[in-house]
Amino acid sequence: IDMAMELIAKIRDLKKQMNVVVLGHNYMTPDVFYGVSDFIGDSLGLARKAAETEADIILFNGVHFMAETAKVLNPHKTVLIADPDAGCSLAESITAEDVRGLKAQYPGAPVVTYVNCTAAVKAETDICCTSANALKVVESLDSDEIIFLPDAYLAKNVAQKTNKKIISWERGKCMVHEQFTPRDIQAARRQYGDLLVVSHPECDTPVTAESDFAGSTSQMEDVIRDSSRKNVMLITECSMADNLRAVFPEKNFVSTCQTCPHMKKITLPKVYEALLNMQYEVTVPDDIIARARKAVERMIAIG
Ligand code: 13P
Ligand code: SF4
Repeated sequence: IDMAMELIAKIRDLKKQMNVVVLGHNYMTPDVFYGVSDFIGDSLGLARKAAETEADIILFNGVHFMAETAKVLNPHKTVLIADPDAGCSLAESITAEDVRGLKAQYPGAPVVTYVNCTAAVKAETDICCTSANALKVVESLDSDEIIFLPDAYLAKNVAQKTNKKIISWERGKCMVHEQFTPRDIQAARRQYGDLLVVSHPECDTPVTAESDFAGSTSQMEDVIRDSSRKNVMLITECSMADNLRAVFPEKNFVSTCQTCPHMKKITLPKVYEALLNMQYEVTVPDDIIARARKAVERMIAIG
């Protein structure tokens, strides 16, 4: 703990010396999340903060596709990530060439990309979405048939709520959320009568169907705040409950979670090194930025 406090103090000093904004995703460990962030939130909220910032440098404590999105929105700023290998199984599941193939297969169908993909994939698409606004984005499009990439389970969750035909990418799965099963929830419901079950829509539909609510990481927090139930089960990454325990000390977080090895690559010592050495800079080619930006900005405009 002493070492963590010392690092947090050093990181805060460096932040003061440089015009840097530190963004922290909800899946960061509490030391990184609460210790050094200027803004915390889900991927949509942090993309908005990245779009608004006046800082010269953005340090994104999250995974690589999130930092890339910040770069796409701020081509003239320096965007840093403390570990460039913090990837995402969804982002790795699809290439720009794959998207071009799908567009050829379904000509005329607009393409929605979940933000969990590379900037090169975003550049091939019409509009982005996150789990906070996926349905709204799909409904905003003037077409009965929509290509939705790369998360097959989020696509299934959206398909259940819209009349539009959703064409998905079967290979796209979140390696963390695909681990959960409805049985995890059923067992806990037997134990706690008043259980509030909140899951992420990157889980398969049998899991979200067993839940009281499925939504983005920040929407989860709102639902817990609005609920009078004391026992809460979060079907998502482990740090989410660790961070929310501090917000809701009166609630009992029933334990079940999976760790995202990518998110966990961002540690306090690496955040310190990132500011000390100005590493690792996230770069995206100009032509990709120009095309990907349209898709991201269109999403931000929708809200
Ligand atoms: P949110 O947009 O809900 O923050 O989710 C990002 C993510 O990677 C979930 O696994
Ligand atoms: Fe990607 Fe899943 Fe990790 Fe989120 S939790 S960054 S979707 S692998």
